[in-house]
Amino acid sequence: MTIHIPVLMDEVLEGLNINASGVIVDGTLGGAGHAAEILKRLGPEGRLIAFDRDPEAVEAAEALIDDPRATFIHANYADAPEHLAAMGIETVDGVLLDLGLSSDQLADRDRGFSFQSDGPLDLRFNTLEGEAAWKIINRLSEKHLADIIYQYGEERLSRRIARKIVAWRQDTEIKAASHLARLVRSCVPPGKKGSIDPATRTFQALRIEVNDELKWVKVAMKRFPQILNPGGRLAVISFHSLEDRIAKQAIVESDALVNLTKRPTQASKEELEENPRSRSAKLRVAEKKSSSAIEWM
Ligand SMILES: C[S@@+](CC[C@H](N)C(=O)[O-])C[C@H]1O[C@@H](n2cnc3c(N)ncnc32)[C@H](O)[C@@H]1O
Repeated sequence: MTIHIPVLMDEVLEGLNINASGVIVDGTLGGAGHAAEILKRLGPEGRLIAFDRDPEAVEAAEALIDDPRATFIHANYADAPEHLAAMGIETVDGVLLDLGLSSDQLADRDRGFSFQSDGPLDLRFNTLEGEAAWKIINRLSEKHLADIIYQYGEERLSRRIARKIVAWRQDTEIKAASHLARLVRSCVPPGKKGSIDPATRTFQALRIEVNDELKWVKVAMKRFPQILNPGGRLAVISFHSLEDRIAKQAIVESDALVNLTKRPTQASKEELEENPRSRSAKLRVAEKKSSSAIEWM
């Protein structure tokens, strides 16, 4: 069961320009919405290899999709080339990265992605490794916390928030997601609350830190172009400017790729009405050049 509604579906399928007998990688399986539609466009010879760092996403997809053309792997998408090579696959025809978190993860009260959750502020995609966010906020120095919140959340109140975290944790450990959300809200001067929950940027920052998200996007944007066949497509959906900047820069600076979206594609009015989560989604698509074109560059 998934509650995740995939974003920019038509645009992704068009962008991937799926070759029915090709190999498509979905690096961010999530609720398998994109994966299921990709499978519908593949013929009997086609293959879908999908990755997710979240063991629960992989388990759910295995229960949902029983198709010999599909393989689901619990791994970081950055390690896809090794997993593919182990299956005898050296090159692929399309790659999708739909970054960030799924609505299934957001709704799981034990994982702390939601501000309302009284569960522990975990924020790990892969619950089997790494350090939960609540441990990090009780351990790091005030300066380190402020830097993370500023850099990964682009939060102007980062110093104030970090100071308050350190003051509050002297009395009692900060563990629940809702506890941190309350703390962050209390740092915002009255009348300056804005249209989004003030905790959004701090949660985003901690999630990026806990999962080292920007690093893996950078690695993926280097590695996937190397394994794409000529004419193969790379489609990347990002949900905030830090990721979009990395995707854009990697595409524009790559000698191996042609940029097919000078401006990122965004959700239509109809999609925005149906799925508010699509509001910040930006899709960029690039095509692998033929090898002769790369040599001539
Ligand atoms: C927005 S959801 C994908 C939704 C999916 N496209 C669908 O249609 O349901 C993003 C997913 O990417 C996963 N993810 C994030 N970083 C990852 C990484 N480095 N490697 C593999 N999966 C990752 C998350 O666990 C999450 O399940």
